Amino acid sequence: MEKFTDWRDKGTGIAPFLPPTIKGPGIGLQIVYTLYIALSCILLSPVILLYSISGNSSLLLVILKVLVGWKADIVIQDVKRKDIQPAKHYPMKGSIYFCNLSSPLDAILLSLIAQNDLIFLIPDGSVLYKMNLQQLINFIMDGSLSPKKFGQEFSQYAQLKNYVTYLFPEGTCSNGKTVLPFNMKQDTLDELIEVSSSSLKIKTIYLKGNNTLVTPLGSSSKFAYLIKACWKSVTMKCKINNDDVKPSLDSIRITINDGDKYKLVSKNLNIESKKKFTQEFKSYRN
Ligand SMILES: *[C@@H]1O[C@H](CO)[C@@H](O)[C@H](O)[C@H]1NC(C)=O
Ligand SMILES: *[C@@H]1O[C@H](CO)[C@@H](O)[C@H](O)[C@H]1NC(C)=O
Repeated sequence: MEKFTDWRDKGTGIAPFLPPTIKGPGIGLQIVYTLYIALSCILLSPVILLYSISGNSSLLLVILKVLVGWKADIVIQDVKRKDIQPAKHYPMKGSIYFCNLSSPLDAILLSLIAQNDLIFLIPDGSVLYKMNLQQLINFIMDGSLSPKKFGQEFSQYAQLKNYVTYLFPEGTCSNGKTVLPFNMKQDTLDELIEVSSSSLKIKTIYLKGNNTLVTPLGSSSKFAYLIKACWKSVTMKCKINNDDVKPSLDSIRITINDGDKYKLVSKNLNIESKKKFTQEFKSYRN
């Protein structure tokens, strides 16, 4: 792996694009998990059908619990566990939640906790792309480098007050070791706030999943990923910070990084460098 030292941050030693070294279960276990998934899908078929019609998130939760042993620990900054009320503390419309991204599981978790209809926004320079959960998962699985291919350009900022808005300012997935430099312009954020006449609140969410399930470069197949998730079982952590954050991308980046600015990688490790890394990594593997 030392071949890839150009993509290791000099200051922190973090290599934010390296995929996990653990590949997946061996062939024997793959067969076992395939049978397990097939059987579960048959037993769950009424629930899956109902979910596909209604999109109800408690049904999705049941499916995830059975398939991948889904567990999620949701914490609200400065609120005691016993005082947490989803209707009061979970993400709701009128706020933009800035989050980092390292796997499709993050997207699923965010959709499960949203209290109103949601929009996912992925920036690419000065453009924002809007996606739904399915599109976002496809974008991540594809390597998260071309939002244009999966989302629609979005500029009706005034609509955002009606949605739970999740914005991923990195514009791509990392391996969850740091928060990447943002692929977004401060001007875009200023405009968002101006159009909403400052009624949109800026909040942050810190997400953390299992290291072996991060997908900085996507995954060759969704089914292979499902088997890996089923094998490892999924434990997610999520900390919602409901304090209004200053509308400055620099301070947002530090806040998402759990307040630790010394663990941020340098701005050279941006999306362009991820594109080059992806190419080299793939040709090295072949
Ligand atoms: C978000 O950033 C924090 C702090 O660097 C990191 O611990 C966490 O794994 C990251 N989460 C995701 C989903 O990338
Ligand atoms: C997944 O992460 C949780 C905590 O984040 C940990 O307790 C668990 O052991 C991890 N599972 C695997 C298989 O790595």
